[in-house]
Amino acid sequence: MGRISRRDFTKTALAAGSIIAAATPISLAAPASIIKRKIPSTGEAIPIMGLGTNRYGVGDSAEARATLRDALARFQELGGTVIDTAPGYRTSESVLGDLMHELGIREDLFIATKVDRDSGPDDSLAQTRESARKLRTDTIDLMQVHSLRDWKNNIPLLHELKRDGKFRYVGLTTSRSSQYQEMEKAMLRHDLDFIQVDYSVEQRAAAERLLPLAADRGMAVMLNRTFGGGRIFDAVGDRPLPAWTAELQISSWAQFLLKYALSHPATTVAIPGMTKARHVDDNFGAAQGPMPDAGQRKQMETFFDAL
Ligand SMILES: NC(=O)c1ccc[n+]([C@@H]2O[C@H](COP(=O)([O-])OP(=O)(O)OC[C@H]3O[C@@H](n4cnc5c(N)ncnc54)[C@H](OP(=O)(O)O)[C@@H]3O)[C@@H](O)[C@H]2O)c1
Repeated sequence: MGRISRRDFTKTALAAGSIIAAATPISLAAPASIIKRKIPSTGEAIPIMGLGTNRYGVGDSAEARATLRDALARFQELGGTVIDTAPGYRTSESVLGDLMHELGIREDLFIATKVDRDSGPDDSLAQTRESARKLRTDTIDLMQVHSLRDWKNNIPLLHELKRDGKFRYVGLTTSRSSQYQEMEKAMLRHDLDFIQVDYSVEQRAAAERLLPLAADRGMAVMLNRTFGGGRIFDAVGDRPLPAWTAELQISSWAQFLLKYALSHPATTVAIPGMTKARHVDDNFGAAQGPMPDAGQRKQMETFFDAL
């Protein structure tokens, strides 16, 4: 603490009528209007637009890191906090750790990573320590079991480490409907602060049982693959947005897909993968303004199914 964070700098610059505001008018006004939702287990409010980093494993390439640094800086300037990574995403944890350090923004962010080992508690513990080292942080905000890996042993271990103050929250992730039954079992057996699941207008199966169960069990829901990994953009192609999306203040297909996913009442935050600042700008457009109601959600599904 004691130094001015990048977000505070942005606010100061805006208050002073800086030219930064004139250069990027849409987004710099945004942080105050970004929708936040509460994590049920604590009541802590987090912005609904997060960031997924499974494409941040670029190693030492200065050029690739510069592009990612721009995206990350933009994300933080716009009021984003929640970032998801994993040891399994090649060098993503180290790259993210270095970029946060260079930008001096770690304390503004909510960092989520994962454990994916199945060789016993010592090995899993060692992996969580290695993640903290790479991310250059003492405390990881959210530690998740990656794709249910050895969840029967890893969840109790993560709870123990949470009690020791190593993490603030514990979660469990999946991105495949073939794992939903097992996921349900784990959600019934353990108290979890978060679940992470794939959910999009194209892949709606999580809404059948997992999302209602998360709501019942008081678990925050983080959404991955809201664009189907990017595939959904190919499905919509260069079609224009339907006229009725204007009342939802939707101006791109990405915003359509994000507003659909985030308007499910059980959801807390989406973590679209974004390696480009312009995608960050676009996606934050979906974190403000009106959200589709049940009727409009149906309309979005019908439109998409007819493509
Ligand atoms: N089991 C698990 O725990 C699990 C599994 C899968 C994913 N995840 C997490 O979920 C995150 C998201 O999943 P994902 O990255 O695979 O899929 P995704 O978010 O559905 O799609 C990411 C793709 O969409 C593109 N994109 C983002 N914003 C866009 C925009 N406004 N317009 C056009 N294209 C846009 C990205 O491009 P650019 O990169 O060029 O910006 C990237 O190619 C991952 O990064 C990871 O953190 C977790």
